Amino acid sequence: MVASKNIDVNKRLPDTRVDLCGITLDNPVIPASGCFGYGYEFAELYDINCLGSFSFKGTTLEPRFGNKTPRIAEAPAGVLNSVGLQNPGVSKVISHELPRLAEVFNKPVMANVSGFSIEEYVEVTRRLSESERADQIGWIEVNISCPNVHGGGMSFGTDADMAAEVVEATRKVTSKPLIIKLSPNVTDIAGIAKACEDAGADGVSLINTLMGMRIDKKTAMPILANTTGGLSGPAVFPVALRMVYQVYEAVKIPIVGMGGITTAEDVIEMMMAGATAVGVGAANLAEPYASKQIVEELPSVMAKYGIERLADIIGASHSHK
Ligand SMILES: Cc1cc2nc3c(=O)[nH]c(=O)nc-3n(C[C@H](O)[C@H](O)[C@H](O)COP(=O)(O)O)c2cc1C
Repeated sequence: MVASKNIDVNKRLPDTRVDLCGITLDNPVIPASGCFGYGYEFAELYDINCLGSFSFKGTTLEPRFGNKTPRIAEAPAGVLNSVGLQNPGVSKVISHELPRLAEVFNKPVMANVSGFSIEEYVEVTRRLSESERADQIGWIEVNISCPNVHGGGMSFGTDADMAAEVVEATRKVTSKPLIIKLSPNVTDIAGIAKACEDAGADGVSLINTLMGMRIDKKTAMPILANTTGGLSGPAVFPVALRMVYQVYEAVKIPIVGMGGITTAEDVIEMMMAGATAVGVGAANLAEPYASKQIVEELPSVMAKYGIERLADIIGASHSHK
């Protein structure tokens, strides 16, 4: 009798699960690339298995030390960064970072790939997909939107033909779901998303950071050594929401929506705009427990809006839903 009562109660619990490219997530919360290291750093603070997944730091073929400092500047309701893809390189990620992650995370992780040429995107994607650690990887997230590096990164994400070329080339070397991370520094993000879908992408994630800068008035010099950086945090949320809304109208593949998410209320709004899952970036830097708190808040915020199944609200704000 007691057991059947328990089953009844569980049935009424809000269902936070979503399906991202054929993989079921317990909830849609995915700490965003560059804001959650390789996971184990945060596992010292809390059990990161409460997350839907997370996207690890942008990985390139060779190790990179990133840009000169200062590479962080404050902004109202946000942060500017010009880290410049600091990472140990794909070999070390496979030999050191993924084994350490396996000790603390038992769900599929999102592997974030960056590059300066199509060949580099292909090689990093291939190495991650074929490595002895490939089972840990659920999705490959190809970042064609980094605003902080020269001669690659964002230049692929600002041109629909070049974006499609990266998708076609990486598609050939992986059977993992391929998610393309788009730049907001464009006039027609929906057109670029459609080009990625047509070229074989399984999903898109957006937005990366918006290009900005700050000036130190005492010296009249840019604060960031790189002069410009990428703005993220709550300041960009309405821009990200608008772009997710537009992309949802243009493509059928799932969207990982991100940009300024700090609360479970933001998650609901982003999903109503069209996101299947959400990325949480800068919020983790301001409050290391932010992603965990969002996961914990979700059921009560769902109850507040009468949502029983989170998957039901994806794209709910569109008239053709
Ligand atoms: C310090 C920092 C480093 C980042 N590094 C990466 C990266 O390596 N690869 C990537 O695709 N995005 C990177 N991003 C972008 C975030 O993943 C995310 O798309 C963006 O910050 C918007 O989300 P937010 O407003 O929640 O921060 C970085 C962002 C920050 C703040």
